[in-house]
Amino acid sequence: MINPIKLTNHRSVTGATEDNGPVYQPFVTAIHDRLHEKDVPGTGWLQDPLEKNSSVLFELNWLVEEIKTQADTLIVIGVGGSYNGTKALEQALSPYFKQSDIEIIYAGNQLSGAYMEQFLHYIQHKNPYVYVVSKSGTTLETSLTFRLLTEFMQTKFGQNYCERIIVATDENSSPLREIARVNNYRCFSIPSTIGGRYSLFTVVSLLPLAVVGIDIMELLKGASTASKQLSKSEIRHNLAYQYATLRHKYYKSGYQVELLASFEPCLTTLHEWWKQLFGESEGKQQKGLFPTSASYSTDLHSIGQFIQQGSPILFETILSFGQMEGDVVIPYERTNRDQLNYLANHSLNEINDHTKEGVISAHVDAGVPVIELEINKLDAFHVGYLCYFFMKACAMSACLLGVDPFDQPGVEHYKRKTLELLTNSVVHSMK
Ligand code: PA5
Repeated sequence: MINPIKLTNHRSVTGATEDNGPVYQPFVTAIHDRLHEKDVPGTGWLQDPLEKNSSVLFELNWLVEEIKTQADTLIVIGVGGSYNGTKALEQALSPYFKQSDIEIIYAGNQLSGAYMEQFLHYIQHKNPYVYVVSKSGTTLETSLTFRLLTEFMQTKFGQNYCERIIVATDENSSPLREIARVNNYRCFSIPSTIGGRYSLFTVVSLLPLAVVGIDIMELLKGASTASKQLSKSEIRHNLAYQYATLRHKYYKSGYQVELLASFEPCLTTLHEWWKQLFGESEGKQQKGLFPTSASYSTDLHSIGQFIQQGSPILFETILSFGQMEGDVVIPYERTNRDQLNYLANHSLNEINDHTKEGVISAHVDAGVPVIELEINKLDAFHVGYLCYFFMKACAMSACLLGVDPFDQPGVEHYKRKTLELLTNSVVHSMK
């Protein structure tokens, strides 16, 4: 099979240039062997995603049909890893303007009262199912939103409301599991060996994506192919490790920021998923590249100037696609007042592609290293492959830094602090 992704290191004058293999291989082998040992916490996603989901897929089929016939809206409550991936894949793989029969509305990813008031008003005349996703079952945003939505659903559907609530939470320990049991909500398990930001190929995303008509089998086939092709420890045979070592090398040579960029607007939320994956996995012990993103050509007219000539703190990873479905040809115009006839009969995709080449060349000239990841096609299979590729590269990258890819101590700390403050302020206001 042709490799679904090709990596090109467009070198800069100042960036890392030589082959990383000899220096990195002993470290990479040791990390790889450790990650692939049996029962290492957080590594459940390394198993073939197609096999891992085989039992749940059947159950999902029924449920998806039920939701499609009973509802016009699926409200997905969740934050961080419990929603970023779903939203990213929904946006990447849905047509721009075609309304699907069922609308997904995301909730519980912030705490704005104004938003919630308008949201509750907006869904008043909808006919929704609610899908609440929280691995821990204790996240404030999710839990508060779920409480409000439970009241809404009870009022709207009476005692049958519980048939319209579906839960996904940790298979073992989660208060949400108990809430589901007591109230008779249907409840899916998130494997305890898979953390939030690595849960893309689980029921967390598979259910809502299937509801809006995304081909989850193709998605899983892509991820499954990646899990096999990226299973070797040799850097030269493992593209994810080539990317991981390259970005580590740029980090070591002083770059502090990695900017992910692409030329297709449907990928902007995939950028957000990637930011969370790398930011939460690597940013510990005062280490790690700060992940940021840009959507071209839009952002060439805003932060493009900084990227090219601002503080030399970043390198760029550009996603491009070998084949794109959908295109338009520029028409010939007799008067040529806009002076664009030199582009007549060329397609927008061609022009977009030339722009990409121009950007890479200008950025490299300016000293910004550019890694290009060229994906064969933008479809469910290839996006599944790409996301698995990033997860594998991310786990390796974090381990190369000497940090745990699967924990988030900073997030836990801020959650504790907020809880302390909220509890104290409630106690004070009661005095
Ligand atoms: O990746 C992670 O672990 C986090 O981003 C979590 O997904 C996020 O904090 C939400 O947690 P939970 O799913 O427990 O509600």
